[in-house]
Amino acid sequence: MGATPSVESAARGAKSQAALEFLKSGPKKLLIGGKWVAAKSGKTFETLNPANEEVLCLVAEGDKADVDEAVKHARKAFEEGKWATMGPHQRTRYLLKIADLIEKHAEELAELETLDNGKPIFESKNIDIPGAAETFRYYAGWSSKIYGDTNPSDPGMFNFTLREPVGVCGQIIPWNFPLLMAAWKIAPALACGNVVILKPAEQTPLTALRLGELILESGLPESVVQIITGFGPGAGSSIAEHPDIDKVAFTGSTEVGKLILKASTGNLKRVSLELGGKSPNIIFPDADMQSAVFGSMLGIFMNQGQVCCAGSRVFVQESMYDQFTDSLAQMAQSLTLGNPLETGTRMGPLVSKEQHERVLGYLEIGKKEGAKAKVGGEAGNQERGYFVKPTVFTDVKNSMKIAREEIFGPVAAAIPFKDENDAVFQGNDTTYGLAAAVWTRDISRAHKIARALKAGTVWINCYGMIDPMSPFGGYKQSGFGRELGKYAIDLYTQIKSVYTKL
Ligand code: NAI
Ligand code: MG
Repeated sequence: MGATPSVESAARGAKSQAALEFLKSGPKKLLIGGKWVAAKSGKTFETLNPANEEVLCLVAEGDKADVDEAVKHARKAFEEGKWATMGPHQRTRYLLKIADLIEKHAEELAELETLDNGKPIFESKNIDIPGAAETFRYYAGWSSKIYGDTNPSDPGMFNFTLREPVGVCGQIIPWNFPLLMAAWKIAPALACGNVVILKPAEQTPLTALRLGELILESGLPESVVQIITGFGPGAGSSIAEHPDIDKVAFTGSTEVGKLILKASTGNLKRVSLELGGKSPNIIFPDADMQSAVFGSMLGIFMNQGQVCCAGSRVFVQESMYDQFTDSLAQMAQSLTLGNPLETGTRMGPLVSKEQHERVLGYLEIGKKEGAKAKVGGEAGNQERGYFVKPTVFTDVKNSMKIAREEIFGPVAAAIPFKDENDAVFQGNDTTYGLAAAVWTRDISRAHKIARALKAGTVWINCYGMIDPMSPFGGYKQSGFGRELGKYAIDLYTQIKSVYTKL
C-alpha cells in the first residue's frame, strides 16, 4: 500500500473501462454547492479493494467545516424553493431521469460496487444496481401523489392539511449496500421536496460519488443533493449535531444509532433509525425442505452475511435438526468463495479488515461457548483479502453470545426448538426486531406465527424479499421509522393544518 495507488493492480479483473477511468480520475472530491471540491482541511483517505487489500482511490475526508458549508448551501437551496415548490410532475421527471442514468451506467456501477465492497458481481448486477434504479422510479411516481386531507370541520370553518417537506435532511448510510442505501435515502426525500446531504460509509464511498455525478448530469437544481465523504466521528457526527439540519436518517449499528439520537436533542431534529438485527428464521418439518434450505442459505450468506435483516438465528424443529443442518452445511460448502468480479462467485470477502477481525473473533467465541462449526469456522484460504468461510454453527443455545449479538458475517447459528410456542418465544427473545421468517405448509400456523413475531418484516416461505412498495424497519432496538413504500413519505414530510373561517 503506498501513497500513489495503482488502479490497474487494485482493480485487476475489472472489465468496465468507465469504472477504471472513474478510479483513475484522481482523488475524489466532495459535492458541495453543485461543485466537486476538496475537503477544506485538504485531507484524504484511502478506499480499498477488500479482495486484495490494495488502494483503489483516494477520497476527500470531509469534516465539520465541510458540513457547515454544505448546510449553508442546502438551506439556501431549500428556502429559495426551486425544488420544494417545483411542480410535482417536473420533480417526477428528474427522479425518472436519475433512474435511467443509473440503468445506463449499470455495468460500471456494479463493478465499482464490487471493487469497493467485495460483494459478488452477481449480486451487484442483479440486486444492488437494479434495486437502486427501481427505488428512484418508484418514488418518482410519489411526487404527484402526496395528499393532504379535507377534515370534517364545523360548517363555519374550512380545514385542510398540507404535507410539506421537512427541509434539510442529513442521511448517513452504511457500507453493506452502498448505492442501494443511497437510493433508499435520497429518492423519497427528493420526491417530497427536501434537500439532502448524504454521507456514504468510509469503507465504500465510490458508487455514491458516481451517483453524485449522474445527479449533476440529470440537471437537478444546485445543492438539492450534496455528498460529503468522511468518517463517522467528523463528517457523520457533524451532521447528527448540526443545528440547521432538520432531519437525520441513519442506517448502521445500534451503537451509533443511539449516538445519533442523543445528538439530535440540540435542535430536536427528526430522526429515523434502521439498525442492527439478529433475525430468527424458523423452520418446521412440514416445510418444503429444498426451498427452506436454499432460502436459509440466502438468508445468511448473501452479501457475506453483512445484511441487517440476515437470518442469523436458524431455528430448526428438533426432530429434523441434524438433517436440516447437514443440508444447510452442504449447501454452504458448495458456495464458490473467491474473486467477487467473477460471475460464478457467490461469496466475496468481507468489507474491511475491521469486519474480518470482528467476525473471526465471533467464530472463536462461538467455539469457546461450545457451539460446533459443522462447516467453515475459519478465514478463507486466500492469500490476501478479507475472506471468511461460510459457517454453520450447531449446538447453539439462544443465550450464547453468537446468538445474541449481531455478527454481520457469514455465520449461521442453528438452534433447536420444540413446538410453535417455543419457536416464537426463542425467536422473540432478542433485543432486536428487524425481520423474521417462518417455513411451513400449514397456512394458519404461518400466519399465527407471523403475527406473534416481534419484527418489522416477516417472510413466509421465503427470505429477504424486499420491494420499494413495502415498508422496511425495526421493532425494539432495530430502530424506528419505516423506509420504503408510502411510509417513507411520512418520514420526509410534515403536516400543516390550515383553518379558514367562512
Ligand atoms: P457504523 O454504525 O459505525 O457505521 C454506519 C455509518 O455511520 C457510516 O457511514 C459511519 O461513518 C457512520 N458513523 C459512525 N460513527 C458515527 C457517529 N459517531 N456519528 C455519525 N455517524 C457515524 O457501523 P460499522 O462500524 O461500519 O459496523 C459495525 C457493526 O455495525 C457491524 O458489524 C454491524 O453489526 C453493524 N452494522 C449494521 C448495519 C445495518 O445495516 N443495520 C450496517 C453497517 C453496520
Ligand atoms: Mg463504527
